[in-house]
Amino acid sequence: MEKTIEKLEEEIKNLHYNPAVSKHSFSDADTKEFYNCFWDIHVKPVIKYSKQMARKYGADLSVVWLGALLHDIARLEDAELHDEIGSKKAYDLLIEKGFNQNLAEKTKNVVLRHRCRNFPPETLEEKIVASADAMAHFLPPFYFWIGKYSSSNFASILERNNKKIERDYHDKIFFDDEKKMIKEQYVLLKKWFNFKIQ
Ligand SMILES: [Fe+2]
Ligand SMILES: [Fe+2]
Repeated sequence: MEKTIEKLEEEIKNLHYNPAVSKHSFSDADTKEFYNCFWDIHVKPVIKYSKQMARKYGADLSVVWLGALLHDIARLEDAELHDEIGSKKAYDLLIEKGFNQNLAEKTKNVVLRHRCRNFPPETLEEKIVASADAMAHFLPPFYFWIGKYSSSNFASILERNNKKIERDYHDKIFFDDEKKMIKEQYVLLKKWFNFKIQ
């Protein structure tokens, strides 16, 4: 199973490195860079954290790994409801690639519930990927990436970031240990995003 997932991971990585879509108001070069960075500073660490937590908490590694790999797959087409759209895409893709229906079904739910908005995580595997998704947002390059490609002004970027770290830290990290690991970063980012422009 590990080899099959590794192969799929390589394919999904290539979709981010050579995106087939063009992003609204972006040049092709910027679209490419945008998705390259998205893979390197977001999807990749989400996979890493998810796999570590799957081993630590005794979760189903295949479900967690595939869920992490595909959790933002609908971002590649700029879908706003990327949890709902992405979960269907993930399911279809896994069936097409010959994964069994049970695994495809469980992975679909991980993708659907990773945002903890309309669909809160229920299983251990769903909670792991939702937590890993939030934890990866605390890597500082993530917010440089957001800022670089945002068309909003600096004050509103800070305000939005502030809300995001609050939600990620308080509502999306389901494990005390992982919350402790992120705390220092949370406090630092919070200070930075609370900066008031004179
Ligand atoms: Fe997402
Ligand atoms: Fe994500």
